[in-house]
Order: sequence, then structure tokens, then C-alpha cells
Amino acid sequence: MTREVRYGIIGAGTIAGFHAEAIKSVENARLTAVCDSDGERAAEFARARGIECHANLADFLARAPIDAVTIATPTGLHAEVAIPAARAGKHVLCEKPLDVTAEKAQAIIDACGKAGVLLVPVFQNRFGHGAVRIKRAIEAGRFGRLLQIGGRIKWYRSQEYYDSGAWRGTWALDGGGCLMNQSIHTVDLMLHFGGRPEQVFGYTATRTHTGLEVEDNACAVLRFRNGAIGVIESSTSCAPGFPARIEVSGERGTAALEGDAIVQWSFTDSEAGDEAILAGIGQTTLGSGASDPKAIGVEGHRLQIADMTRAILTGGKPAIDGAEARIPVELVCGIYESMKTGKPYVFKE
Ligand SMILES: NC(=O)c1ccc[n+]([C@@H]2O[C@H](COP(=O)([O-])OP(=O)(O)OC[C@H]3O[C@@H](n4cnc5c(N)ncnc54)[C@H](O)[C@@H]3O)[C@@H](O)[C@H]2O)c1
Repeated sequence: MTREVRYGIIGAGTIAGFHAEAIKSVENARLTAVCDSDGERAAEFARARGIECHANLADFLARAPIDAVTIATPTGLHAEVAIPAARAGKHVLCEKPLDVTAEKAQAIIDACGKAGVLLVPVFQNRFGHGAVRIKRAIEAGRFGRLLQIGGRIKWYRSQEYYDSGAWRGTWALDGGGCLMNQSIHTVDLMLHFGGRPEQVFGYTATRTHTGLEVEDNACAVLRFRNGAIGVIESSTSCAPGFPARIEVSGERGTAALEGDAIVQWSFTDSEAGDEAILAGIGQTTLGSGASDPKAIGVEGHRLQIADMTRAILTGGKPAIDGAEARIPVELVCGIYESMKTGKPYVFKE
């Protein structure tokens, strides 16, 4: 059995630096190569890290000494690189969102399934200690029946941020605006807590940025299959930007997260362990991207790459099942469809 996992990064832009840092800090993981269609960018990234560099995906997949790839290209190109990587027998870690439509996301899931490689979708916020505690409390039945799950993401992105890449704010490559790119982390956590959605209805608007095809503000209401209902308030216009808040309420308790910190933990019946959680209210382990995408910190990616490395080396399962990553994409696209039709979007499965 191989004792280490050799990683290659595809797409050497903003988030790739976080991938490289994270891989460096994970035991039994090693960064060996990078591929970027912009050859100069790939060369600069490789030189700084003493790794192999490629500008051609087919060469990279055929020749680079890699067991797994991490995908950090613009979102609308994820399927275009993930599917050949899976067919070449490489395990795939793919940045959020999985792609820009549920159909493209499903194509990645199917290709990885057919090739027998792991698909690990990046949703690093699931690894935050607050999210882990809320999920455990839900599974232990502490909330009773879930009633409401709300997500409020009043973030800020500057005009310079949208101007920094031709793909940002486009339907084809970003797949949407504040909902698809930024709020997808919170949408994923809401689904992680509430389970499968049944219907969603929403409004979107573009209010403070110029040159965007997509929205910078959105509000939606949704219903989960288990009967819980919820709201999503999403923005990249709300200066200076505030930590995303998720509030989960059941018939026997309410808990809330701001960023990854628990800020409310109230149950009708107390349990051992509650005091420690209450004493740690407001404590955070992951950085927040509320105002600046580069301020997220590397810890979330480190935990996720450590989990993937363990799964590859032991033949076990990663914490996040790749197939789950289609659902937040379908939900966000459902809000866009609802805005067009004026009707709720009803999930097919
Ligand atoms: N998990 C997070 O918190 C987080 C944060 C930021 C970005 N992201 C995600 O990471 C992805 C990349 O975002 P970014 O901000 O780093 O983008 P970026 O524009 O900074 O970098 C993208 C890189 O991909 C390269 N590229 C484009 N097409 C390519 C291709 N066909 N093959 C190889 N390389 C190609 C570009 O040359 C560029 O270097 C997006 O899906 C985004 O949603 C996730």
C-alpha cells in the first residue's frame, strides 16, 4: 500500500495557494505538480514550490507523478477537467460549487463513480467545530422535530473583486452571483442540517456592482422534505460584510452559528457537554470570507485534505459524499428558475 498521496493542483489562481498550503501541512500528503492553461502562471506557481509544471491537461494527467488532483479552475470548467482526471484514474477533490448546473455536477459524480475514484467536494465549513456540534445534536434528536433553518449571508465583495477575473459574475463560468459563488457554503450547511429540500422560491437582484450578468442580492424561502421551512438571505453588497449566520430551530431547542462559531445553544433539556459549549460561545477556528475571499484561512482546507488523504490510504470513505454536492447547485439553480417563472421550483428527487 502506498504510504503517501501525491497531489497535483489544476488551476493556479487564488484558492490554489490555499490548497498548496493545506497539502503541505497534512501528514502523508505531498504536492508534486501543478497544471494551469496559463503556462506562465503554472511555471511561477511551480517554481515557488519546487514542483512539476504543466500547461496541457492531457500531458499533466499522463505524466505527472500524482495519485489525486485538486480542482481550482473557474467553476464552469470543473467538469471539463474533473472528468478526464477521473478517467485517468486520479482521485478528485473539487472546489465548490461542483459546477454551474446540476447536470454538469452529476456528470462529474458519474465519471468518478464509473472510474472508481473518490470525489471529494470542497465544503470546508462542514469541518468547523460549531457545524460538527450542531450536526451531532440533530442526529442525537436534541432539537426534536426540526422547524426552521435560516441562513443569512450579508457579505461584501468589491467591484475590483468582480473585475479581477473575466469569469467572475458570468453565467457560463461563475454559474450565478452571491448565491452560487459565496452563499453556497451556507446553503450546503443548511442542507447538511435540514436534509433533502422539497421546494424553493426566490427573488434575485443586481444592485451595487456593474458589469455583472448575475445577482449580487437574493432572498429565498424553502421547504425541506421533513417539513422544516427556512429562508436564505444572500448578498455581496452589504459593506463591510458580516459573518454568515445559520439558525436551526426545533421544537426542543435552537442553535446558531456565526461564521463557524456557535453563538446560540439553547435546549429545553440540558446535557453533559452543554456547559463547555456555552463557555466557548463565539470561539472560531476557521477564518471568515465575509469581506475578503483571501481571509478564509487554510484550516478548513487542511481538515478536508487530511480527511481525503486518510480515505485514500485506508480505502475508507471521505466525510463528504461526492453525490451530495449536486444538491446545493440544484437548489441555487432552482432559485434562478423560480425568479424567471414566478413559481416555486420543485425538486425532482
Ligand atoms: N472553498 C473556498 O472557500 C473557495 C474560495 C475561493 C474560490 N473557490 C473556488 O475555487 C475555484 C477557483 O476560484 P479562484 O478564485 O481561485 O479563481 P482564479 O481566477 O483566481 O484562478 C483560476 C485559475 O484557473 C486557471 N484555469 C482556467 N482554465 C483552466 C483550465 N482549463 N485548465 C487549467 N487551469 C485553468 C486560470 O488560469 C487561473 O489561474 C472556483 O470554483 C471558486 O468557486 C473556493
